[in-house]
Amino acid sequence: MHKITIIKSYFELGSKAADCVEKTLLLPKSSIIFPTGSTPISMYKELVKRKLNWSNTTTYNLDEYMHLKNPEKSYFYYMHKNLFNHTNISSNKTNFLDYKTFSKTKNYGFCADLCILGIGRNGHIAFNEPGGSFDSETRIVELSKQTRKDNSRFFKSIQDVPLKAVTMGLKPIMSSKKIVLLAKGKSKKEILEKAIFEEITEKIPASILQKHDNLKIYYCD
Ligand code: GLP
Repeated sequence: MHKITIIKSYFELGSKAADCVEKTLLLPKSSIIFPTGSTPISMYKELVKRKLNWSNTTTYNLDEYMHLKNPEKSYFYYMHKNLFNHTNISSNKTNFLDYKTFSKTKNYGFCADLCILGIGRNGHIAFNEPGGSFDSETRIVELSKQTRKDNSRFFKSIQDVPLKAVTMGLKPIMSSKKIVLLAKGKSKKEILEKAIFEEITEKIPASILQKHDNLKIYYCD
């Protein structure tokens, strides 16, 4: 059975996750899948501070919005602003799910050495919304009302939150050799506990993580 490790501070949450990334960067060749959202920000800050060598790794992003009016809201922009612009990684080693070309790179996260994840309040991981198949591959999805509402804090209004996104599927995510799930805040606690300790069900996409044998879960209030 998996356990949720309770971390004292948000800074420490980032630091724990950064330790896992740092270890992976030391491999002769590695691949890492990264999330976005507010939760991983302290991890990215810590990674930038550590001035690590990124030359042996290739990165992949979990998801991307479609049809954005403002490119600054994209996860491409987020990753450059929060991480890539401050490291020595070369741009041909960072991969994003551009919806126009994603079918070419469909399951690009297959067997990644490390996958860092956040969790949505409805139990989504990446943009795999409740009800989707555990066997899902990388694809275009419709965002749920709840996710659009939750993510509207990053936009001027809910109308500006895209209706669709491209997301890595649960299958390629689960094929990662190691998964680290990060969650912050009381609003995530209930869904996190449901996902990890209750029934494995497609109604709660994150519950599939119970089947992974190399999973770490870090939570802070
Ligand atoms: C978005 C992302 C997810 C992320 C979730 C939680 O919907 N697609 O990958 O895990 O938000 O974000 P936050 O950390 O801001 O709560």
